Amino acid sequence: MSFIDTLNVKSISELAIREKRVFIRTDYNIPLDNEGNITNINRIERTLPTIKHALEHNSRVILASHLGRPDGDRDPVYSLEPIATILAEVLERDVFFFEDCVGMGAQQMVRDLKPGQVLVLENLRFNPEEKKNSAVFARELAKMCDVYINDAFGVSHRKEASVNALPLMVDTKGMGLLMKTEIEELSKLIGLKRGEGFYSIIGGAKVLDKIAIIRPLLEVVDRIMIGGAMSYTFLAAKGIKLGKSRVEEDKISIAREIIRGAEARGVDLLLPIDHVAADSIDSVETEIYTNDNFPQDKMALDIGPETVKMYVDKLEGCNYMLWNGPMGVFEKEQFAKGSISLAKAVANLDAHTVAGGGDSVSLMKKAGVKDLFTHISTGGGASLEFLKNNTLPGIDVLK
Ligand code: 3PG
Repeated sequence: MSFIDTLNVKSISELAIREKRVFIRTDYNIPLDNEGNITNINRIERTLPTIKHALEHNSRVILASHLGRPDGDRDPVYSLEPIATILAEVLERDVFFFEDCVGMGAQQMVRDLKPGQVLVLENLRFNPEEKKNSAVFARELAKMCDVYINDAFGVSHRKEASVNALPLMVDTKGMGLLMKTEIEELSKLIGLKRGEGFYSIIGGAKVLDKIAIIRPLLEVVDRIMIGGAMSYTFLAAKGIKLGKSRVEEDKISIAREIIRGAEARGVDLLLPIDHVAADSIDSVETEIYTNDNFPQDKMALDIGPETVKMYVDKLEGCNYMLWNGPMGVFEKEQFAKGSISLAKAVANLDAHTVAGGGDSVSLMKKAGVKDLFTHISTGGGASLEFLKNNTLPGIDVLK
């Protein structure tokens, strides 16, 4: 029996959905630039198989999502209306939009929906009850579902009304095809033991964000390579200070505990040995320094060439890779080389390679290796929590 079968959750393709009102919770929390323009539609594209499946069965499709963290306020920057426009283009059909996600107006729109039509509701988080996992709010949403489908893997670690309270109120429910793929691919990393060639590359800015994954990983991986701003806190824990580089002083003790934990378990925990440095994050001029000669007035913003070489060499023996977070400020050309070089090396491994985390899709796309990874998860926090607990609050309620 495969892992997904043990969950006892039906997929949309096993449910009777013909001409039904199929409410699909999606995660359209897509990146926006400073002007509020959408910069990457990967999360929209990844829900298309589920939507198309529903349309092939002549369902009345209702799409609901959050976008950003508007804290219960109606902030137009986070409206889902532009997403409805994009969906109309990619689906090549009319997509209706309604300016609220509950209430008489939304219910009327749903009643008027004909088989084969698609409606996008306004941002669920414009309503403060969504984040509170409110049963009252969920009951309002339930009025619009004959069938509830969760295809929002990326937010399924949150106990929010549309993900957690709502499915408990709907009899016919299941997972979408994106959710199914996420579970199938990520579950291949569950149950591995030390000695099976399970390696992990962890980067990104904040130590705290990654603690939840590093601790359980220490029990199963053979090697962890750390990069990105969080590595400067780990280096500080070893007494290595890198000028003006960002260090989370209050997390140094956690970093020290992780280093000791790795040593105690025989996990090879690697830290950068050299860095691409500059005066500030806005500088174009860069220089390379090692841990030993790093000047006081510079900050590290990417892993250096010797670190890349060492990390690439240390990929030897890797059978399973979990990558989470970039090695530097890869959004800027001058600080992207470390992340890109390492991503290319990982993508070409003969291994089960999984990347997760908000920035991963953009990074792998920039490196030109998006399609070479076995799986790129749409969830950052969700993929880590899934690997830790082998389920999520949004999956449990679909049983
Ligand atoms: C994500 O982008 O990680 C998910 O959509 C969850 O968003 P959140 O961190 O704002 O809850």
